[in-house]
Amino acid sequence: MSIYVVGAYSTEFIGKFHPRFIWKGHPDYGKRENPTLEEYILEAVEGVLREAQLEVEQVERGYVGNFAGELFASQGHLGALLAQYPGLARRPFMRVEGACASGGLAVMAAIEALRSGSANVVLVVGAEVQTTVNAKQGADYLARAAHYATQRSLDPFTFPCLFARRTKAVLEETPTTFEDLALVVEKAYRNANLNPKAHMHTVKVSREDALASGESNPFFLTHPEYKSYLKVKDCSQVSDGASALILANERGMEQLRRTPQVQMVGWAYLSSPLKEASDPLRLETTYFAAKEAYQMAGISPKEVQVAEVHDCFSVSELLMYEALQFADFGEGYRLIREGKTALGGALPVNPGGGLLAFGHPVGATGVKQVAEIARQMLGKCGKYQISPLPKYGIAANMGGDDRTAVVSILARLE
Ligand code: CAA
Repeated sequence: MSIYVVGAYSTEFIGKFHPRFIWKGHPDYGKRENPTLEEYILEAVEGVLREAQLEVEQVERGYVGNFAGELFASQGHLGALLAQYPGLARRPFMRVEGACASGGLAVMAAIEALRSGSANVVLVVGAEVQTTVNAKQGADYLARAAHYATQRSLDPFTFPCLFARRTKAVLEETPTTFEDLALVVEKAYRNANLNPKAHMHTVKVSREDALASGESNPFFLTHPEYKSYLKVKDCSQVSDGASALILANERGMEQLRRTPQVQMVGWAYLSSPLKEASDPLRLETTYFAAKEAYQMAGISPKEVQVAEVHDCFSVSELLMYEALQFADFGEGYRLIREGKTALGGALPVNPGGGLLAFGHPVGATGVKQVAEIARQMLGKCGKYQISPLPKYGIAANMGGDDRTAVVSILARLE
């Protein structure tokens, strides 16, 4: 059973430093609130239905990807929240959770429903609101994506520390330099500056800014061994936002009388033991998931023309190049140095700004990645549109420290 993308939509991703985000320095501080998790979910549904030109009655099933609604927004039970959308009551909806891969797993759940024939037209929403608490409290919530009992004590910022550990290993064991990581950050912000929905749309960060530590880019970890390997600008954003997709199988496409334009041609999701220490030099779970996805799609990594990768930290992007086999292990740095993954390069990666600068509302990210590839294939990306339209694209979404990996391959149909 073939699977097609019928519609793709993202809300704005916002948070600290976004002009519309209300925080201490904003003129509306204390008078107005930022949008809630509920509002983001409902906005994403409205947006994707409009984008797909679908009537609400045509949605047969739905999945919501979300990591920690209970903690950040005091709200769980998000399947029923989705059913609040006018016309969506009493549908088979559920929430899917897999840390920062929650969105990717929601896409996988939708695909499985479509393949089994239990539904023909499925709605997928990914959403997270994280700015309700300060970054340090948020880091404690996010640490639940690691093995909390054994890893929480690593550093007040557990995840940044886990990836500072990877950064140290990569810098010591491969020719990768701090300059290469600064190039990753510079590319992310440059791309986001072209993307009106990006959290960091108006924030400029040069290679020099990313490289230098200072008041706006401090080393903020306390761990004595890893502290000097990660600065604020190496980190993805604490963002609010939601993304949504409408997926259909062949029967669904007939029901909707649509001509297929974008097909999901390969996918895989894998989990590795949460407590087990990962090889800091490799994203192995992602590597094996990508291998399965390439095999299913019947394409080689060389055929990919656009990628959305989980750049939760600057080093993650380089490790993703290797896990997706764009480069040999230890050689991801070459691609960023050569400009191959820049917007105008041979293989643009994260053309909308990635997690570093488009933002990372964690439950939304995996849905957004697939949405972005589809939008690139449909020529809908405005100033960050790739030309010519890509034929094959890949999305790689990661939960925890490479403990869950979701990889999807999409194809544009001629
Ligand atoms: N000098 C020294 N220390 C400083 C400093 C300075 N000039 N400025 C800030 N700090 C330190 C302080 O400790 C500060 O905390 P307190 O003020 O509470 O003591 C801390 O840095 C954070 O500073 P801010 O609150 O000003 O930081 P911010 O709000 O701008 O956030 C960030 C910056 C901490 C990097 C934040 O963006 C962040 O946490 N990003 C990463 C988010 C994350 O980890 N996401 C998950 C990725 S992992 C993944 O994707 C997989 C999964 O499943 C989870």
